[in-house]
Amino acid sequence: MVGNMTIRCCVFDAYGTLFDVSAAARKAAEEPGNECLAESWQEIAGHWRIKQLQYSWLRAVASAHADFWQVTCDALDWALEAVGLDGDPRLRSRLLDLYRELEAYPEVPETLAELRHRGLQSAILSNGSPAMLAAACRAAGIDQLLDDVLSVEAVGVYKPHHSVYRLVTDRFGCAPGEVLFVSSNGWDASAASGAGFVSVWVNRAREPLERLPWIPAHRLFDLRGIPELAEKAG
Ligand code: LAC
Repeated sequence: MVGNMTIRCCVFDAYGTLFDVSAAARKAAEEPGNECLAESWQEIAGHWRIKQLQYSWLRAVASAHADFWQVTCDALDWALEAVGLDGDPRLRSRLLDLYRELEAYPEVPETLAELRHRGLQSAILSNGSPAMLAAACRAAGIDQLLDDVLSVEAVGVYKPHHSVYRLVTDRFGCAPGEVLFVSSNGWDASAASGAGFVSVWVNRAREPLERLPWIPAHRLFDLRGIPELAEKAG
């Protein structure tokens, strides 16, 4: 048991948690013709991700929603200009193609399969647009292992707006305390705790705890402990 409730579903953040957001720049750097990325791919990946998140938060606060694909393109444009590679439309388009089909972390398929084996429902709750999420899940071969894929597009505002987390309890008809919510984004895991979920921060990057008003209930370094945690919770 976690608290005094039974976990009914495991809900995963997508980008950074299931899908490796650095993989697009890393893979592009390995391709012939993209030698210009050898020195800069990590910087591009870092700028790309942080600008993507900043734009999502700013758009949420300013009530200026645009879908996550638009935000992802805008963030990439900022990142490419920051490293002086903004004049190369072929490179931009290649990076975006790779982002559409990001690699999943190695333990993702087995973790989702194990959850299903144990009779637990699982889903994604992500800022990603439905088209982005469908393409990424298909490419990673996990589309058949999930019960649902929930996108913020249903409410038109980004995490950590409370209406996003409510999509889960509405979909599964359960109480927040019956949801195990898993995110590698510390702020997302914290905010999910604030929404009443049993949250797990999968701290892949070994970062300090976010200084926010809520604290994740559990901390792991990858997803391998999730089925056991969910079971104990049940
Ligand atoms: C998501 C972002 C936060 O998938 O990574 O929702």
